[in-house]
Amino acid sequence: MLTPEDNQLLTQTDAGTPMGDVFRRYWIPALQTEELISDGKPQRVKLLGEDLVAFRDTEGKVGLVDERCPHRGTSLYYGINDGCGLRCMYHGWKFNTDGECTEIPSEPTDGKFRESVQLKSYPTKEVSGIIWTYMGPKESEPAFPDFYWMNLPRENNLVERVWQECNYAQAMENDLDFVHAAFLHKAHATQEVEDGILSSDLGIDPNHPLVKNPPVKQSVQDTNFGKRCIAVGIGTEEENAFMEIHYIFPFYTYPPRFGGEDGMWHAFVPRDDHSTWTWDVQFAHDRAIDVEAQHARRGLKLDEDLRKVVNADVEYNQDRDLQKTGNFTGIRGIANQDHAATETMGTIVDRTREKLGTSDLPIIHMRRILLQQAKAFQEGQEPLLLENQSLKTLYSEGLYDDKNKKWQEAFPLQEQFEKKKQAVENK
Ligand code: FES
Ligand SMILES: [Fe+2]
Repeated sequence: MLTPEDNQLLTQTDAGTPMGDVFRRYWIPALQTEELISDGKPQRVKLLGEDLVAFRDTEGKVGLVDERCPHRGTSLYYGINDGCGLRCMYHGWKFNTDGECTEIPSEPTDGKFRESVQLKSYPTKEVSGIIWTYMGPKESEPAFPDFYWMNLPRENNLVERVWQECNYAQAMENDLDFVHAAFLHKAHATQEVEDGILSSDLGIDPNHPLVKNPPVKQSVQDTNFGKRCIAVGIGTEEENAFMEIHYIFPFYTYPPRFGGEDGMWHAFVPRDDHSTWTWDVQFAHDRAIDVEAQHARRGLKLDEDLRKVVNADVEYNQDRDLQKTGNFTGIRGIANQDHAATETMGTIVDRTREKLGTSDLPIIHMRRILLQQAKAFQEGQEPLLLENQSLKTLYSEGLYDDKNKKWQEAFPLQEQFEKKKQAVENK
């Protein structure tokens, strides 16, 4: 349970809010590389409550700029993208990817005036199929994050984003919730899935350790990237199943996986306070990803704006007969199941009214670090630094080990992920 003030602090991310200012100190995924083509149609993308437009110029450079033209505010989404710039459809003012005004046809002789015009623009980098941006102060730009999956061949990754109709925090809380898999994602019968794929569109196999409920134990460790959440689950007669979720500050996760299963990385980027760009990267460690199987498993159907077609308006196509025979929810697609659970809470859930149990431990810890970092930032402390030597080798794994072993012994945190003594002393 949170106070109304803390719920606000946790969920509000516009410019000038404490959490919004912390988030602006990290590199953020904005669009997929293939969404922009040179001199092609610009794309609208709202990030942290800011209306932005992205375009790829004649030379392939990406601009991410304010949607509103600095002249009189017409949307640049409707503009003309050619000749190394985006031109407003209203009076023809033209801007390059850095937001500099390169032409004002209505004032051809006044160079000084043109030079005084600046369109808000954010730096971008294209890495592993994603156009990333940094929306914070120039002097505080952090090192670009080097996530594990970025070091795999491109064909080993499947990168997608979807518009989720709720605040980022509740979308992310779902990822830190081990127990929901045992209900929301439970298929009633064994599923026929290809090697490495966690589930079918119906859900996860009833004898998968994620679905065998309840977990024997849950625990959370402080790390140098955020939190490591551990669940000890029911495995076999002799062995327990040890699972982990990595929460990387401020809005990245690696959900639980077992050996041989494709990995998953998520980013929950606030679109505004009521919606989220949920990024999903599926990655296979040593082979090309099976795109078709992953699509079927997730089961999302999206429109041009990357919004779900199967949504609350059509009650997620819930099928009550399927619910009796096929799976726990009667909803097809693992991602649809997650979205249905989190969106039906309302876009910002009222955390003053919830009743958290012991199974919600990872969520409590995630909120704690977010609130603590936002408050410390307000008092002048720098936000958590993500160290690339750790990120590079980090992903979630699962294993079976002796029932009598303590999790600390069976499933220790690797040394390079440990929180430095220095950082603890600073707290
Ligand atoms: S409003 Fe854009 S050029 Fe006038
Ligand atoms: Fe889920």
